[in-house]
Amino acid sequence: MSMSIEECAVARPGFPKPFPETPANVTEQFKMSGKVTVVNGAADGIGLAVAEGIAEAGGHVALWYNSNDMAVTRAEELARAHNVKTKAYKVNVTDAEAVQRTVAAVVDDFGQLDVFVANAGTAISKPILEQTLDEYKFQMAVNVDGVVHCAKYAGEVFRRQGRGNLIITSSMSAHVVNVPVDQPVYNGTKAFVTQFGKCLAREWRDFARVNVISPGFFDTKMGASDRCVHEAYRMAVLGRQGHTKEIKGLYLYLASDASTYTTGADMIVDGGYTLA
Ligand SMILES: NC(=O)c1ccc[n+]([C@@H]2O[C@H](COP(=O)([O-])OP(=O)(O)OC[C@H]3O[C@@H](n4cnc5c(N)ncnc54)[C@H](OP(=O)(O)O)[C@@H]3O)[C@@H](O)[C@H]2O)c1
Repeated sequence: MSMSIEECAVARPGFPKPFPETPANVTEQFKMSGKVTVVNGAADGIGLAVAEGIAEAGGHVALWYNSNDMAVTRAEELARAHNVKTKAYKVNVTDAEAVQRTVAAVVDDFGQLDVFVANAGTAISKPILEQTLDEYKFQMAVNVDGVVHCAKYAGEVFRRQGRGNLIITSSMSAHVVNVPVDQPVYNGTKAFVTQFGKCLAREWRDFARVNVISPGFFDTKMGASDRCVHEAYRMAVLGRQGHTKEIKGLYLYLASDASTYTTGADMIVDGGYTLA
């Protein structure tokens, strides 16, 4: 049963909490100078755009990759172009010990961890009746276990520091049943991480913010396949896939002091796909 109006009128000790001591000027709020961000899946696609956005705003970036070692070159390019510190790390997010070790290595190398962008993902887009159990387990390992591993070990650092910020790349597939290709396992993994992120926003309320970004189709390796691309154009109100430059600003917003009152949010950026 909810509290009565009289019970609610009693002030609770420690509330309201103070406003943050952040700049009032919005361009100052977006600056990432002095902050350290990990982005995984950072060699290409959405993750690379996120790493670029953070570096363009003056932040230091640890670019995590699994198989695409272009991350090493990209890290060097970003450091040169924006006069920030960067480093590439090879880590498979399905390996909990590797994630724990690499989070510790980032803290050793950079001295702190302010933002973790859990962006790595994979999809084997098939109906469950055509999917093998190994394919199911593989998607669960990357999309679910991988996010849990990253959240757990980044979260331990956030709690120790007394501050932190986790951003999870989910998908509009956590909200709708994509058409025309049935892919219940991928969609289910994304529904898990969306709800997981919201729950962490509450669990970590005293020391960290947690938010979720749910992209629609973006023109990357994981974007609309030949089998569904024309339907993707038809379903998106804007009539196309997104370009990765059209989403990095949202990651920067959530990573920066522009969003200090935003936690537990799930932001859909899908060109209007889920309106239908
Ligand atoms: N593009 C879309 O239409 C779309 C829509 C909704 C959601 N998303 C989500 O957006 C995120 C980024 O995808 P993207 O579109 O940018 O495609 P992408 O360029 O293929 O990025 C996927 C990234 O995940 C990394 N990855 C895969 N397995 C990994 C593992 N075991 N350990 C560590 N990293 C691993 C890959 O790293 P390596 O290349 O180094 O192996 C790759 O950089 C994914 O979570 C995806 O589900 C994408």
